[in-house]
Amino acid sequence: MVSLPLAYATCWRYFSDIFSRIGSVTGILSGEIINLDFCRVIIYHRRFSPEYSTVNAPPSLLDTASLKKKLNGRKFGSKIFTFETIDSTNNCARALAGCWAEEGTLVLAERQTAGKGRLGRSWLANPYENLTFSIVLRPTLPAEALNLLPLYAAVAVAEAIEHETGLSVECKWPNDLLIGGKKTAGILLEGSLKEEGLDYVVLGIGVNVNQTTFPDDISPRATSLKVQAGREIDRVRLLREMLRTLEIHYTAIMKKGFHNLLPLWLSRTTMINREISVTQDGTVISGIVRGLSPEGALILDAGGTEKTLFAGDVTILGT
Ligand code: BTN
Repeated sequence: MVSLPLAYATCWRYFSDIFSRIGSVTGILSGEIINLDFCRVIIYHRRFSPEYSTVNAPPSLLDTASLKKKLNGRKFGSKIFTFETIDSTNNCARALAGCWAEEGTLVLAERQTAGKGRLGRSWLANPYENLTFSIVLRPTLPAEALNLLPLYAAVAVAEAIEHETGLSVECKWPNDLLIGGKKTAGILLEGSLKEEGLDYVVLGIGVNVNQTTFPDDISPRATSLKVQAGREIDRVRLLREMLRTLEIHYTAIMKKGFHNLLPLWLSRTTMINREISVTQDGTVISGIVRGLSPEGALILDAGGTEKTLFAGDVTILGT
């Protein structure tokens, strides 16, 4: 495990680097951090960055005070860091989690300069139209739970989207949410281990909310809530609902484990009994999906041989 001074130094270096590289960082608006010594870099920018108080954005999402009021004192979102621009909310949340950030700390950005997707891909999202955020979790779970946590997040985010839009959301193993067969949201978990299991987990979520056009290469496979619902979606309401469902399911998992969660995920997937191909480190495995293992792995019938897959990129074949 990293020692505390080292973790603080890492966090300091991260923010110094971010502030020097992204000149237009408009600041962390959460009042809490002002008391923290190690965050002098941030405090400096709070005081002197001219952009700080002139965030050129629709106020609701970057205004942590009003956001916090709307979150009604929940644990998820009890500390909020918002940025106009950051490299990746996951990177930022990891830097914070490495030293002090408590469970439920939320890092939110309008624009990510290096948004990360699964399998080393980038996550691209137009600023002011979408939701890109990360939450610090400190689950008392063994390391293997990292395979189950994406399923938990997918269920919670799907429920929130349905609640706010009335659209029906499908889960695609391991971390995707689809509407009308196209990707609407993605989840990226990054964990840090200690001897007894997970030290912290950063849960990164990107939702295509009000974006209506996508880069050519992803356009055939991507959609947004606005495209699907035919109307603008209120991002603050959606964020609030996601934080609510994420916290409720998380609390249940910490008390009772994942066995109630897996059926919820399974009820939202159309993958069962369908033929898929999974690419794993350059190897392609094809087969029929038979289910999920209790550990969150995909069980595949690959020509009569049962395969248990813990990771990979899935293509659903045929209909
Ligand atoms: C995927 O589908 O490949 C996962 C996408 C996860 C994107 C989110 S956006 C907020 C958070 N910060 C990141 O850099 N990535 C995640």
